[in-house]
Amino acid sequence: MTALLEARALRKSFGGVRAVEGISLAVPERAIFAVIGPNGAGKSTLMNLLSGTYQPDSGELLFAGRQLVGLPAHRRVRLGLARTFQKIRLFKQLTLLDNVLAGFHIHHRIPAWQYLLPAAAFWRDWTRCREEGMALLEFVGLADRAFERAGALAYGQQRMLEIARALATGPKLFMLDEPAAGLNSAEVGFLLQRLIDIRARGITVVVVEHNMDLVMNVADHVFVMDHGEYLFQGKPREVQDNPQVIEAYLGGEFVGGVAA
Ligand SMILES: Nc1ncnc2c1ncn2[C@@H]1O[C@H](COP(=O)(O)OP(=O)(O)O)[C@@H](O)[C@H]1O
Ligand SMILES: [Mg+2]
Repeated sequence: MTALLEARALRKSFGGVRAVEGISLAVPERAIFAVIGPNGAGKSTLMNLLSGTYQPDSGELLFAGRQLVGLPAHRRVRLGLARTFQKIRLFKQLTLLDNVLAGFHIHHRIPAWQYLLPAAAFWRDWTRCREEGMALLEFVGLADRAFERAGALAYGQQRMLEIARALATGPKLFMLDEPAAGLNSAEVGFLLQRLIDIRARGITVVVVEHNMDLVMNVADHVFVMDHGEYLFQGKPREVQDNPQVIEAYLGGEFVGGVAA
């Protein structure tokens, strides 16, 4: 199995806090790779290192064999990395469709001068983007609300819109930071199905998640962090049965898992 993304000994500290302390991992192509761990384990920091929101203090990061360290987030998006954030980031005043169209923006295929002098290629591109944008809204169950403001959506719907917008960038690797947080169980079920569909489209998924039902049902591989460090990795079942993992989660966070 080839790794699409490979991290080697990544480190990131904030002052005295070692948020990510020597993490190495390999994300196989076309897998759903889940990252779990207690609060403060360093999951979001790791995600920020993978996406380029932060640069590591040391370590390497390879995407399809290409070194990513030093590349800013927007350059990584062009290479095919997309993400959603733990805190929703949408253009709340814009319509749902315009939010998704903003995602297409990075891949406009038309020369800039055609923005000034609308020509055939411009309208072709515009029509194509709108069609694909609507298809993505359909995919996340929001097509009938395409022309409403994003701010008018309920929380769970805003999360799905964020997913549609990230998909509009045409990712090879899609990273989500706690997408199920704040969703009700029907919405979690919908999200789970979408993640499976996204994988079926050939997109590799990295998902940081607290919801163990989701992780255990959807992940091909689970990577466990604790206190910034690697703890364990394996198939969902192996992770659930691992004594170190159970120990790290004692205190009741392992919902749906072994510790209640
Ligand atoms: N920007 C930051 N500045 C200072 N400390 C941070 C920052 N981001 C994260 N941390 C700290 O790093 C540790 C790991 O945080 P985080 O990556 O958010 O964990 P998780 O997502 O697993 O809950 C925590 O102790 C957190 O307080
Ligand atoms: Mg986090």
